[in-house]
Amino acid sequence: MKIINKNELEHKQLINSKSGELYSFSHVVSDFFGSRQVFLTHDIIAPQKRASSAHRHSYIEEIVFVSKGQLSVIWGEQKRTAQEGSFIFFDPKETELHCLQNETNDEVETITFSLKRQDDAVIYDNSKTWQPPTLETSRLILRPIQLTDAESIFAYAKNPNVCKYTLWETHQSVQDSLSYIKDYIFDYYSKGVPEPFGITLKENPQTVIGTVGCFWTSKQAKAMELAYAIGEEHWGKGFVAEASKVVMDYCFKEFSLKRIQARCKVENKSSSRVMEKVGMSYEGTLKSAIFHRNKFWDMAYYAKVIE
Ligand SMILES: CC(C)(COP(=O)(O)OP(=O)(O)OC[C@H]1O[C@@H](n2cnc3c(N)ncnc32)[C@H](O)[C@@H]1OP(=O)(O)O)[C@@H](O)C(=O)NCCC(=O)NCCS
Repeated sequence: MKIINKNELEHKQLINSKSGELYSFSHVVSDFFGSRQVFLTHDIIAPQKRASSAHRHSYIEEIVFVSKGQLSVIWGEQKRTAQEGSFIFFDPKETELHCLQNETNDEVETITFSLKRQDDAVIYDNSKTWQPPTLETSRLILRPIQLTDAESIFAYAKNPNVCKYTLWETHQSVQDSLSYIKDYIFDYYSKGVPEPFGITLKENPQTVIGTVGCFWTSKQAKAMELAYAIGEEHWGKGFVAEASKVVMDYCFKEFSLKRIQARCKVENKSSSRVMEKVGMSYEGTLKSAIFHRNKFWDMAYYAKVIE
């Protein structure tokens, strides 16, 4: 990820206030617009206050994105409530954004993005950002995760059944899913690691129904670990095994791997079964290898090794 800032003073607030965190958002929104250049500002709106739009100069579509809190977005006769993590689109050619209004007693943080104006100074060069490729199986499309996938990830990650044996916790709000995307996934992408791909059905590639990916356990030993999860309504259809196979093929080839391992709590029989179905061999169980949710867990290890 590369950020070129030609005018630090003008955009100092943006850069200082969140110590770089917002840059992830610019990355996604630039994808959103199919553009390599975005202009971006952010605003903290105090409780019960109104603020005029962060900018109205764009002649191309703009969006308001709320990163923290809840506010009303008012334009023309229209008023809509923007929840945390939601986007509101409007077209400045058609309608003028009147104001953002915080009717709550909490501080609200909004981020407003638009395509870059000629004279705007912050330029984000998306062409330098690594993303995993899009892969295809007979029933699935596996594609890079975007910030806009937060809602569909939340839809399954909020289910405690899905998280019963995972090392990550149930998502409590869309904000948790957003944090997962920008802090975990984009961090891996920025290091060239395909952790994870979004699993989508061919007939609906917009909606992420699960994830599967690989991350390094040892670069020197050319070894990665496979991890996955899918929404409960899709269990038992063989989707994760189908997705894992192509991700493993991709990783073996792309990173010249010797080994891909996977591990799960021994109680997670479905996960062990996926590991067998993708051609991994059972290597053994490490007793009490993990202390999680206040108890010790035995971990079963599987791997596929290129001889
Ligand atoms: C584990 C998980 C990824 C399996 O994905 P999946 O797409 O359902 O996998 P499959 O359809 O290939 O099923 C694998 C095995 O799970 C078992 N299984 C699947 N659905 C099941 C269900 N509804 N009830 C009981 N067992 C089931 C079967 O034994 C099946 O093997 P089979 O195909 O030989 O019958 C999925 O259940 C999941 O996301 N679980 C929650 C997250 C998680 O635990 N991730 C792994 C952490 S290590």
